[in-house]
Amino acid sequence: MRKPFVAGNWKMNTDSQGSVELAKAVADGSLGAAGQSVDVAVCPPFVYLKSVAGAVSSSNIAVGAQDMYYEAKGAFTGEISASMLKDIGCTYVLCGHSERRHVIGETDELINKKVAAAIGGGLLPILCVGELQSEREASQTQDVVTRHVKEGLAGLSAEKASAVTIAYEPVWAIGTGLTATPQQAQEVHSFIRELLGRIYDSELAEEIRIQYGGSVKPASAAELMGQTDIDGLLVGGASLKSDDFLAIIQAAL
Ligand code: PGA
Repeated sequence: MRKPFVAGNWKMNTDSQGSVELAKAVADGSLGAAGQSVDVAVCPPFVYLKSVAGAVSSSNIAVGAQDMYYEAKGAFTGEISASMLKDIGCTYVLCGHSERRHVIGETDELINKKVAAAIGGGLLPILCVGELQSEREASQTQDVVTRHVKEGLAGLSAEKASAVTIAYEPVWAIGTGLTATPQQAQEVHSFIRELLGRIYDSELAEEIRIQYGGSVKPASAAELMGQTDIDGLLVGGASLKSDDFLAIIQAAL
């Protein structure tokens, strides 16, 4: 049985006070539920990671970073390593979020190095995959997702890959208010699970959690979570409002 996993991606939002308040509200509101029947993580901007980790330290809420660099240390101005994230209390790290792929220009090769370095550094990567609207319209969804998954996990043994969560986030559904229908999402999730079975084996495919992301709201969370291959949710906008995020956690229980 895969344990549900809900993560909030705060993106480039909040400030020092607001991030701690939001983290505390999530920790207080999910008392008991988080960690037992559902894994919950919040992913604030880098500069607020440490204070957010402090704010949730007596709860079961985990903290994740939104990105990292693959080198361990050295002359990489502006970058942050896995060991730095681990040092300040991070458990998870997003790798290859679509905004990093399409706004910043990250490649599958770079994302693969980040995933491998995250695992090597003791973090649990959330590998984000998903097609653009134009790719869906051109019936390329499966090709794009195959490339993102295969290249994102390239060179990883089954044991290492078991540390990964995949987040399927159709780019056309991110921040647009357009959620994939539960059936559309399920179709791609089951395709990803089959693909994992082909790359590795059915045991690993059954074990890996696949989150859905893209305009998830309290009203859509339960039906999405009701799908066989949807094991969790990666939530952007709605994770910035504690009431909405708590309702989404509740729906995942
Ligand atoms: P959204 O973002 O929920 O605001 O669409 C999801 C994400 O980008 O992870």
